[in-house]
Amino acid sequence: MPTFNLLAVTLAATLLGSAAPGAAGAAETIITLPRPDMNGGKPLMQTLKERHSEREFSAESLPLPVLANLLWAAAGINRPQSGKRTAPSAKGWAEIDVYVATTDGLYIYDGMAHALRLVVAKDLRALTGRQDFVGHAPVNLVYVADYGRMDDESSVADKQFYAAADAGFIAQNVYLYCASQGLATVVRGSVDREVLGRAMQLKPSQHIQLAQTVGYPPK
Ligand SMILES: Cc1cc2nc3c(=O)[nH]c(=O)nc-3n(C[C@H](O)[C@H](O)[C@H](O)COP(=O)(O)O)c2cc1C
Repeated sequence: MPTFNLLAVTLAATLLGSAAPGAAGAAETIITLPRPDMNGGKPLMQTLKERHSEREFSAESLPLPVLANLLWAAAGINRPQSGKRTAPSAKGWAEIDVYVATTDGLYIYDGMAHALRLVVAKDLRALTGRQDFVGHAPVNLVYVADYGRMDDESSVADKQFYAAADAGFIAQNVYLYCASQGLATVVRGSVDREVLGRAMQLKPSQHIQLAQTVGYPPK
């Protein structure tokens, strides 16, 4: 399978005119992902048997179809009529966004469009955690809650609890997809949220919950 270079795809998308205008009128870089393959993978019980954390990664890129499947498994829309996702969320808020830090830049996964939108055209991988492997593994997912999407009547403590729980479900979806596909992954709470949040250009209402590294195990 060919390896995936996000920059190449990004440039192609922009040059081919598939980039939509951004809010400020500038061209927005959007990568439309291949449709997820919902038929593949190992049976659930075998997948559960193989789920584990791994902290050694090859630098090999994820092919685009693999990244597409991974993101759909994480938080893709599995019921288009309602727009609901593969992961549950408290009160259906869907307040967690999945950001994708790669060698080419930071993207946000748009589940409705099943696409990636470029947020920062810089390699922020090394800022997504305090462990050495984060800087060279091909993908670090960052789960960010937008408290602005959560009911105003909820207390801050409630929002914190629900956001953490909802991020956990996404992380487990990613664990299961990785176990099913022979990918290496580890979810991580050890993140400098202030430094990373600044680099990600987050709004005050956005709060980093967890990060999760994904890649191939070393050969
Ligand atoms: C909320 C949470 C935060 C975690 N944070 C880290 C982390 O920062 N770094 C890390 O290497 N592992 C982290 N882990 C992974 C755990 O260490 C791991 O799940 C645990 O040792 C059990 O191993 P297993 O996942 O292989 O069953 C975290 C796990 C959870 C659930």
